Amino acid sequence: MAEIEPGARLCSGYFDEAAQIALLRELEKAIARAPLFTPTMPRTGRPFSVRMTNCGPLGWVSDRARGYRYQDRHPETGEPWPPIPPVLLAAWEALADYPHPPQACLVNFYGREARMSLHQDRDEADFSAPILSVSLGADCRFRLGGGKRADSSRVFVLSSGDVMTLGGPARLRFHGVDRLLPELAPKLASPLFAEGGRINLTLRRVT
Ligand code: SIN
Ligand code: MN
Repeated sequence: MAEIEPGARLCSGYFDEAAQIALLRELEKAIARAPLFTPTMPRTGRPFSVRMTNCGPLGWVSDRARGYRYQDRHPETGEPWPPIPPVLLAAWEALADYPHPPQACLVNFYGREARMSLHQDRDEADFSAPILSVSLGADCRFRLGGGKRADSSRVFVLSSGDVMTLGGPARLRFHGVDRLLPELAPKLASPLFAEGGRINLTLRRVT
Protein backbone atom coordinates (compact mmCIF):
# COMPACT_ATOMS: atom_id res chain seq x y z
CA MET A 1 0.00 0.00 0.00
CA ALA A 2 1.61 3.26 -1.12
CA GLU A 3 0.45 6.68 0.00
CA ILE A 4 0.74 8.67 -3.21
CA GLU A 5 -0.61 11.90 -1.70
CA PRO A 6 -1.90 12.57 1.80
CA GLY A 7 -5.07 10.47 2.08
CA ALA A 8 -4.68 8.91 -1.38
CA ARG A 9 -3.49 5.32 -1.20
CA LEU A 10 -2.77 2.87 -3.98
CA CYS A 11 -2.66 -0.84 -3.35
CA SER A 12 -1.23 -2.24 -6.60
CA GLY A 13 -2.30 -5.79 -7.37
CA TYR A 14 -4.52 -6.07 -4.29
CA PHE A 15 -6.65 -8.62 -6.16
CA ASP A 16 -4.57 -11.38 -7.78
CA GLU A 17 -5.68 -12.93 -11.04
CA ALA A 18 -7.82 -15.63 -9.38
CA ALA A 19 -9.58 -13.01 -7.25
CA GLN A 20 -10.13 -10.79 -10.31
CA ILE A 21 -11.74 -13.69 -12.16
CA ALA A 22 -13.96 -14.54 -9.17
CA LEU A 23 -14.99 -10.89 -8.91
CA LEU A 24 -15.77 -10.79 -12.65
CA ARG A 25 -18.08 -13.79 -12.25
CA GLU A 26 -19.92 -11.91 -9.48
CA LEU A 27 -20.20 -8.83 -11.69
CA GLU A 28 -21.52 -10.85 -14.63
CA LYS A 29 -24.33 -12.04 -12.34
CA ALA A 30 -24.99 -8.55 -10.99
CA ILE A 31 -25.10 -7.03 -14.49
CA ALA A 32 -27.50 -9.76 -15.65
CA ARG A 33 -29.88 -8.58 -12.91
CA ALA A 34 -29.11 -4.86 -13.17
CA PRO A 35 -28.09 -4.16 -16.79
CA LEU A 36 -25.58 -1.47 -17.70
CA PHE A 37 -27.32 1.76 -18.69
CA THR A 38 -26.04 4.98 -20.27
CA PRO A 39 -26.39 7.89 -17.87
CA THR A 40 -26.90 11.41 -19.21
CA MET A 41 -25.62 14.77 -18.01
CA PRO A 42 -27.83 17.05 -15.96
CA ARG A 43 -29.32 19.89 -18.07
CA THR A 44 -27.60 19.08 -21.39
CA GLY A 45 -28.73 15.45 -21.55
CA ARG A 46 -25.42 14.51 -23.17
CA PRO A 47 -24.67 10.81 -22.72
CA PHE A 48 -21.71 9.72 -20.62
CA SER A 49 -19.12 7.70 -22.52
CA VAL A 50 -19.14 5.07 -19.76
CA ARG A 51 -22.05 2.77 -19.12
CA MET A 52 -22.90 2.02 -15.53
CA THR A 53 -24.89 0.09 -13.01
CA ASN A 54 -24.72 -0.33 -9.23
CA CYS A 55 -24.75 -2.86 -6.41
CA GLY A 56 -25.82 -2.23 -2.83
CA PRO A 57 -28.67 -0.49 -1.02
CA LEU A 58 -28.12 2.71 -3.00
CA GLY A 59 -26.91 3.42 -6.50
CA TRP A 60 -25.57 6.57 -8.15
CA VAL A 61 -27.46 7.67 -11.27
CA SER A 62 -27.64 10.76 -13.46
CA ASP A 63 -30.09 12.03 -16.05
CA ARG A 64 -31.14 15.26 -17.68
CA ALA A 65 -34.32 15.79 -15.69
CA ARG A 66 -33.19 14.98 -12.17
CA GLY A 67 -29.40 15.29 -12.22
CA TYR A 68 -26.87 13.43 -10.09
CA ARG A 69 -28.37 11.47 -7.20
CA TYR A 70 -28.54 8.22 -5.30
CA GLN A 71 -31.59 6.00 -5.49
CA ASP A 72 -32.50 2.50 -4.35
CA ARG A 73 -33.76 1.29 -7.73
CA HIS A 74 -32.36 0.72 -11.20
CA PRO A 75 -33.60 3.60 -13.39
CA GLU A 76 -34.70 1.34 -16.24
CA THR A 77 -35.89 -1.90 -14.61
CA GLY A 78 -37.28 -0.28 -11.44
CA GLU A 79 -35.78 -3.19 -9.44
CA PRO A 80 -33.60 -2.88 -6.33
CA TRP A 81 -29.85 -3.08 -7.01
CA PRO A 82 -28.18 -6.47 -6.44
CA PRO A 83 -26.06 -6.86 -3.29
CA ILE A 84 -22.42 -5.76 -3.15
CA PRO A 85 -20.20 -8.83 -3.79
CA PRO A 86 -18.74 -10.08 -0.47
CA VAL A 87 -15.16 -9.87 -1.77
CA LEU A 88 -15.65 -6.10 -2.19
CA LEU A 89 -17.10 -5.77 1.31
CA ALA A 90 -14.02 -7.59 2.58
CA ALA A 91 -11.71 -5.18 0.72
CA TRP A 92 -13.57 -2.24 2.27
CA GLU A 93 -13.19 -3.79 5.72
CA ALA A 94 -9.48 -4.33 5.16
CA LEU A 95 -8.62 -0.98 3.59
CA ALA A 96 -11.23 1.70 4.32
CA ASP A 97 -10.47 2.18 8.01
CA TYR A 98 -14.14 3.06 8.57
CA PRO A 99 -16.54 1.40 11.06
CA HIS A 100 -19.54 1.00 8.73
CA PRO A 101 -19.96 -0.90 5.45
CA PRO A 102 -20.30 0.85 2.08
CA GLN A 103 -23.83 1.73 0.96
CA ALA A 104 -23.19 1.98 -2.76
CA CYS A 105 -20.99 0.29 -5.32
CA LEU A 106 -20.97 2.13 -8.63
CA VAL A 107 -19.96 -0.08 -11.55
CA ASN A 108 -18.50 1.91 -14.46
CA PHE A 109 -17.86 0.09 -17.72
CA TYR A 110 -15.36 1.73 -20.09
CA GLY A 111 -15.38 0.67 -23.72
CA ARG A 112 -12.13 1.36 -25.54
CA GLU A 113 -12.98 4.99 -26.29
CA ALA A 114 -14.59 5.85 -22.95
CA ARG A 115 -13.19 8.36 -20.50
CA MET A 116 -14.28 10.20 -17.38
CA SER A 117 -13.71 13.92 -17.14
CA LEU A 118 -12.23 15.50 -14.03
CA HIS A 119 -14.79 15.62 -11.21
CA GLN A 120 -15.23 15.39 -7.46
CA ASP A 121 -17.31 12.72 -5.70
CA ARG A 122 -19.54 15.00 -3.69
CA ASP A 123 -23.11 13.72 -3.91
CA GLU A 124 -22.72 12.00 -0.54
CA ALA A 125 -24.09 13.53 2.66
CA ASP A 126 -20.99 12.63 4.66
CA PHE A 127 -17.37 12.83 3.53
CA SER A 128 -15.86 11.17 6.60
CA ALA A 129 -15.69 7.78 4.87
CA PRO A 130 -13.17 7.25 2.08
CA ILE A 131 -14.08 6.18 -1.43
CA LEU A 132 -12.57 2.88 -2.46
CA SER A 133 -12.03 2.19 -6.11
CA VAL A 134 -11.19 -1.15 -7.79
CA SER A 135 -9.90 -1.52 -11.36
CA LEU A 136 -10.48 -4.55 -13.60
CA GLY A 137 -9.51 -5.12 -17.22
CA ALA A 138 -7.53 -2.69 -19.34
CA ASP A 139 -5.02 -0.34 -17.79
CA CYS A 140 -5.96 3.33 -17.81
CA ARG A 141 -4.35 6.73 -17.42
CA PHE A 142 -5.85 8.00 -14.18
CA ARG A 143 -5.62 11.71 -13.32
CA LEU A 144 -5.57 12.92 -9.72
CA GLY A 145 -6.05 16.66 -9.27
CA GLY A 146 -6.34 18.85 -6.22
CA GLY A 147 -9.22 20.28 -4.24
CA LYS A 148 -10.00 22.83 -6.96
CA ARG A 149 -10.59 22.12 -10.62
CA ALA A 150 -7.76 24.45 -11.69
CA ASP A 151 -5.17 22.85 -9.38
CA SER A 152 -2.32 20.96 -10.99
CA SER A 153 -2.82 17.23 -11.44
CA ARG A 154 -0.70 14.14 -11.79
CA VAL A 155 -1.25 11.09 -13.94
CA PHE A 156 -0.53 7.47 -13.19
CA VAL A 157 -1.56 4.08 -14.53
CA LEU A 158 -4.25 2.01 -12.81
CA SER A 159 -4.12 -1.70 -13.65
CA SER A 160 -6.42 -4.66 -13.19
CA GLY A 161 -6.56 -5.69 -9.54
CA ASP A 162 -5.42 -2.31 -8.19
CA VAL A 163 -7.35 -0.70 -5.34
CA MET A 164 -7.19 3.02 -4.63
CA THR A 165 -8.66 4.83 -1.65
CA LEU A 166 -9.30 8.56 -1.44
CA GLY A 167 -9.98 9.56 2.14
CA GLY A 168 -9.28 12.25 4.69
CA PRO A 169 -7.57 15.21 2.99
CA ALA A 170 -7.90 13.47 -0.42
CA ARG A 171 -11.62 12.64 -0.16
CA LEU A 172 -12.73 15.59 -2.32
CA ARG A 173 -9.85 15.71 -4.77
CA PHE A 174 -10.71 16.03 -8.43
CA HIS A 175 -10.05 12.86 -10.43
CA GLY A 176 -10.82 11.31 -13.80
CA VAL A 177 -9.75 8.86 -16.47
CA ASP A 178 -7.96 10.33 -19.51
CA ARG A 179 -8.14 7.16 -21.56
CA LEU A 180 -7.69 3.42 -21.58
CA LEU A 181 -4.45 1.75 -22.55
CA PRO A 182 -6.04 -1.21 -24.37
CA GLU A 183 -2.76 -2.64 -25.58
CA LEU A 184 -1.97 -3.47 -21.96
CA ALA A 185 -5.26 -5.23 -21.21
CA PRO A 186 -4.77 -8.50 -19.38
CA LYS A 187 -6.62 -11.55 -20.61
CA LEU A 188 -9.60 -11.70 -18.30
CA ALA A 189 -11.98 -13.93 -20.21
CA SER A 190 -15.49 -12.59 -19.83
CA PRO A 191 -18.33 -11.68 -22.15
CA LEU A 192 -18.06 -8.23 -20.55
CA PHE A 193 -14.58 -7.84 -22.03
CA ALA A 194 -15.31 -9.39 -25.43
CA GLU A 195 -14.08 -6.17 -27.04
CA GLY A 196 -11.62 -5.17 -24.33
CA GLY A 197 -12.51 -2.44 -21.89
CA ARG A 198 -12.22 -1.66 -18.22
CA ILE A 199 -14.48 -1.87 -15.19
CA ASN A 200 -14.14 0.45 -12.24
CA LEU A 201 -15.97 -0.27 -9.00
CA THR A 202 -16.38 2.61 -6.57
CA LEU A 203 -17.55 1.85 -3.03
CA ARG A 204 -18.96 4.73 -1.01
CA ARG A 205 -20.84 5.67 2.12
CA VAL A 206 -23.75 7.91 1.14
CA THR A 207 -25.72 9.05 4.21
C1 SIN B 1 -15.08 7.49 -11.06
O1 SIN B 1 -14.50 8.41 -10.53
O2 SIN B 1 -16.33 7.35 -11.01
C2 SIN B 1 -14.34 6.43 -11.83
C3 SIN B 1 -12.86 6.43 -11.62
C4 SIN B 1 -12.19 5.32 -12.36
O3 SIN B 1 -12.77 4.83 -13.34
O4 SIN B 1 -11.08 4.90 -11.99
MN1 MN C 1 -15.39 9.71 -9.09
